[in-house]
Amino acid sequence: MVTLKNPFILALDVSDESLAFDLATQVGERVGAIKLGPRLLMRGIAPRMAALLPNTPLFFDIKLFDIPNTVEASLEAAVEMGAKMVTVHGLGGRSMLQAARRVEQRHSDLLVIPVTILTSWTNQDLTANFQSWSIRQHVSVLLELVADLGFRAVVCSQEEMDLAHGFGLKTVIPGVRLTHANEAGATVNFHDQKRVGDLKQVLQRGGWAVVLGRAVVESPDPVQTVETILCEIAELQRRINGWGIE
Ligand code: C5P
Repeated sequence: MVTLKNPFILALDVSDESLAFDLATQVGERVGAIKLGPRLLMRGIAPRMAALLPNTPLFFDIKLFDIPNTVEASLEAAVEMGAKMVTVHGLGGRSMLQAARRVEQRHSDLLVIPVTILTSWTNQDLTANFQSWSIRQHVSVLLELVADLGFRAVVCSQEEMDLAHGFGLKTVIPGVRLTHANEAGATVNFHDQKRVGDLKQVLQRGGWAVVLGRAVVESPDPVQTVETILCEIAELQRRINGWGIE
């Protein structure tokens, strides 16, 4: 199992390598995990990042969706490059997910996390062939498959978190913002995210981990924003008696 020291996954969503390494140097060992997407992984930074952050799991958010053989080989390559957490698409189907699960079973310290339906989608974004069902129904079917195959965690929005917990799955929640900043009069930018949740509420409702990217990397002082998030989590942790991150 991958152990996170806290539930804050920082999405290092910047294209500039030196900016990525500056931020990782300053806060990388304090957050629960560092999430890297294709924009940085394609630049080949993973081994250097893994060497810089020996105590923080690297989360490769590559959302693989391909034939089973390709997915299996790609996941093995991700492991070689230092991935401890990696995403595949739940929509890739049973055979593809079985291939992904085989890789997870070969590596005891790897968490393969199927993504359900993107948090940037509403029901209106479902294409015509999907539209007779709501997002919630789609997610429910994907969760049943994912749980049946033995996965331990999924990516979903805070709106479907209850469903995932019902299947005994840990939840990784993107589309998270610090909405109390809004109450304080500041404008909270949801960017392209639609099924959005508040940091504290998501954790209070049992979210295993939260992903925050632009709320941090686009803030005027990213290091200070990380500190604020960590303080909020520590405060919550004192009130909720642990939420079992292991
Ligand atoms: O900037 P923001 O906090 O919205 O970033 C969310 C991150 O989580 C992005 O890196 C995005 O690719 C990722 N993600 C997501 N929705 C999913 C899966 C991953 O937003 N369903």
